[in-house]
Amino acid sequence: MSRSAHPAGPRHADVLPEGHYSAPADDLNALDPKVWSHTVGRDADGVVTVGGLPVTQLAEEYGTPAYVLDEADFRDRARAWRTAFGADADVFYAGKAFLSRAVVRWLDEEGLNLDVCSGGELATALAAGMSAERIAFHGNNKSPEEIERAVRAGVGRIVLDSFQEIVRVAHIAQSLGKRQRVQIRITVGVEAHTHEFIATAHEDQKFGIPLAGGQAAEAVRRALQLDGLEVIGIHSHIGSQIFDMSGFEVAAHRVVGLLKDIRDEHGVELPEIDLGGGLGIAYTSDDDPREPHEIAKALTEIVTRECEAARLATPRISVEPGRAIVGPTAFTLYEVGTVKPLDGLRTYVSVDGGMSDNIRTALYDAEYSVALVSRTSDAEPMLVRVVGKHCESGDIVVKDAFLPGDLAPGDLIAVPATGAYCRSMASNYNHALRPPVVAVRDGAARVIVRRETEEDLLRLDVG
Ligand code: LLP
Repeated sequence: MSRSAHPAGPRHADVLPEGHYSAPADDLNALDPKVWSHTVGRDADGVVTVGGLPVTQLAEEYGTPAYVLDEADFRDRARAWRTAFGADADVFYAGKAFLSRAVVRWLDEEGLNLDVCSGGELATALAAGMSAERIAFHGNNKSPEEIERAVRAGVGRIVLDSFQEIVRVAHIAQSLGKRQRVQIRITVGVEAHTHEFIATAHEDQKFGIPLAGGQAAEAVRRALQLDGLEVIGIHSHIGSQIFDMSGFEVAAHRVVGLLKDIRDEHGVELPEIDLGGGLGIAYTSDDDPREPHEIAKALTEIVTRECEAARLATPRISVEPGRAIVGPTAFTLYEVGTVKPLDGLRTYVSVDGGMSDNIRTALYDAEYSVALVSRTSDAEPMLVRVVGKHCESGDIVVKDAFLPGDLAPGDLIAVPATGAYCRSMASNYNHALRPPVVAVRDGAARVIVRRETEEDLLRLDVG
């Protein structure tokens, strides 16, 4: 990511401190459509609106912090993925990014399938009425209970992640008198250009079965022999927040190579290939993600080309985007509590949430943008660090950004692109109450996940 220090001196600093930040936007009141959901704008008073509702009204009614999710934008993005891949491919939304029953219903209505990775996500999907055959069940250590539940429910596929699991799932399926459709997750040895903790296709990590050393081929060999399993394909997920398609290219090449080896050894052409999720989104104006139709075209072309070269019928492709669908659809609305200028350094802006509602900055050094949303301002930009209210100096929401120099307690600010991996990774650190998710659409708002209460916390504390 190309970032440069701002050359000129905004308020509080003639010489700006070291940091990874771009120059302030020419107009801090402008909202870059790359990082905000589609229906976001400003009304005549300068208040930011989403789904036709001013954020001041949302804050009044639902409190802060709150995740505000633009339902129309979510549906548009889900549909764009669905349309881009067409009827010959499947799009599985990765529920780990954010899952609730409302989300499951939207996905259902928009024709997407669902990837779940725990009993809890499976329960949510089933509770919302998603038909089991449209669910894929993932995880590197699914418990026997989770496997049994998934097999009983009739999930469309279980993605096998280890040699033990091959036997475990086969055994459970057979004991239930079923034949479970499975894919085998392999690691293709690609170094995805992303943060170490969210890269998943290099060999030295916990997911998948390495292609190297013939382990993946051995896994397929064993799985094909077991009556409880119907092996439908190979799965590869190379990591997350990826912009460069070359990693997928290498992955597809290697997966197809394995399909060819399987055909040559067993005389079986596996009908499906899953290339996982991981497509990047814009967190700041510097990020340039690709559109779903470009991604679909690129992936389909790569797989088709590789299969033609290997003289294989092109398998049905599936993908599992999570962040690329839900990430840009929500922002976190905070109220400013304190504004603390540190001369020659930066101004610390404390908000009423923090690492409990967005751990990504602390965990991955993630970059975010931020805007003043309850009004506009013509004040000079000031370099800020948006921090939370937790007892930890690493409690940072936005590390380096510019906000108007007249920012004051009581102002509302919003951090865009927090739809993915924020609510789903939220915690109760310092006994914080996890914020609600408020969905807005066509001038109406409704809570789809309510705010936690102190009673919720005390209910778990059995004394
Ligand atoms: N499929 C599989 C098998 C996965 O493991 C994941 C993400 C996805 C699909 C969806 O990836 P996406 O399209 O959302 O990038 N907490 C991290 C991300 C962890 C992703 C884990 N697996 C973050 O906040 O960046």
